[in-house]
Amino acid sequence: MTKAFTFIKRYLLSLAGCLYLLTVGVLRREHREILHEITFRLGLRKRPVPPPSGPTLLIPVTEAKALFSAPPLVSVLEQDVADGNVSGYELLVISQLIADLKPKACFEIGTFDGRTTLNMAANAGTDCHVYTLDLPQEEVDKTGLKIATGDEQFIKKESSGARFSGSPWAKNITQLYGDSATFDFSPYEGKMDVVFVDGAHSYDYVKSDTAVALRLLKPEGGLILWHDYGSPYWKDLTRSLNDLYEGTPSFKSMRNVMGTVLVVWRK
Ligand SMILES: C[S@@+](CC[C@H](N)C(=O)[O-])C[C@H]1O[C@@H](n2cnc3c(N)ncnc32)[C@H](O)[C@@H]1O
Repeated sequence: MTKAFTFIKRYLLSLAGCLYLLTVGVLRREHREILHEITFRLGLRKRPVPPPSGPTLLIPVTEAKALFSAPPLVSVLEQDVADGNVSGYELLVISQLIADLKPKACFEIGTFDGRTTLNMAANAGTDCHVYTLDLPQEEVDKTGLKIATGDEQFIKKESSGARFSGSPWAKNITQLYGDSATFDFSPYEGKMDVVFVDGAHSYDYVKSDTAVALRLLKPEGGLILWHDYGSPYWKDLTRSLNDLYEGTPSFKSMRNVMGTVLVVWRK
């Protein structure tokens, strides 16, 4: 009798849970994740298998704390991570680097939802302006260079920069649109303190965006950051950064931040 009662109670609770999940529950991301998980458990979809390990990582690793004399106080905004964003720890490291450097001008290649853009602006302060370039989704098939398999999902989205638009930091951010392979960067060249390279993930785009980043930095110095080095999903990006590290004498001081897929280089 007790067993039957427990079963009925569990059944009714599960039913209520399912009704909730399939109606108003779908409005919340964490609840949609439960629905995705159910489809895996029922065998309706296969779990994505991480691809086998990629190229050897040649860029030496550094601890984040070696990058600044004392870790600066930072604000980390929009902490919810979406597929395509940097991780929470990476966002902290980027925010610390920015707060430490106090840049006056930053440039990001690859806006996506603008989570990193927003945090760069917030940690640089009101004296800084952040420019961020994104490829309009209509141009996905017309890029100047070949994009990587997997880039499309981040290009095809309703809007760029949703996380900063309407925020108090939006006035310190300029959203630019275009293809980083063909965009006219000349108004921004020689004016940036920080460049974050996080656009298309193919070998050629990383090489081309890095050449752009070098032109964007102020002649007196600055910082370039790249994302996704060593990620099993973006092996060509890793190969491209390996080749830049090995083939460019000044890039010998590139470092991969421990526990992240970030690479940092100071001019
Ligand atoms: C991984 S997401 C960037 C994530 C973002 N930086 C962050 O930290 O949340 C890559 C972005 O690069 C953009 N992108 C891809 N190819 C591009 C290109 N050729 N030129 C400019 N942006 C590009 C995509 O539209 C996408 O928004």
